[in-house]
Amino acid sequence: MVRTTLACVFVIVVGMSVVARQGDRPAVYTAEQAARGKVAMRANVMAAGDNFGACSDCHSEGLGGRTGSPGEQPPVASLKPNLQKTIADAGGRIPDLVGPAFRARWANRSVKDLSLNFKDRFAMGGLSEDTRLDILAYVLSENGFPAGAEPLTMATDVTVALLSGAQAP
Ligand code: HEC
Repeated sequence: MVRTTLACVFVIVVGMSVVARQGDRPAVYTAEQAARGKVAMRANVMAAGDNFGACSDCHSEGLGGRTGSPGEQPPVASLKPNLQKTIADAGGRIPDLVGPAFRARWANRSVKDLSLNFKDRFAMGGLSEDTRLDILAYVLSENGFPAGAEPLTMATDVTVALLSGAQAP
């Protein structure tokens, strides 16, 4: 009986918090993090240095990804040979980190899945946790999600769709 009552209270509290969020998008990173991330994603931030490259080398300026169309910046031919090879091996297609397709792919997953994806992806690269979170904050800001007072951390756990103002699934 006690357990049932507690379960009911839980449902009501969760239900209320969902209502409170309508039109009130959660803000999961600070503008300072995104500003640092903007610089870091264009720099060659990996300790592996020359063997890697900037996020924007492969994912393109604006992080809109590559499909192999001629106007993509920077041009593939201007990149270091090993980066050209990675892009060629991927069939010229590099996923976007900014845009509707990215938001749709991640909509039903948590920001935490993204921070863990970054962690796994750059585990060998010597990219510090702070820099990874700064770059992820920049990716979130470029996708139009709001900045706020609380910094993004590895513990941040909010469904990506909610950042767009969607209701809880
Ligand atoms: C040498 C080229 C290259 C560079 C540099 C690069 N990436 Fe990627 N990235 C790829 C390729 C290829 C894929 C697709 C295959 C995969 O998931 O590994 C990818 C996929 C991703 C994904 C998964 C996207 C999704 O929605 O599934 C994320 C996130 C990502 N990269 C982030 C970054 C960030 C952040 C940086 C800079 C620190 C970066 N990448 C630098 C080539 C690159």
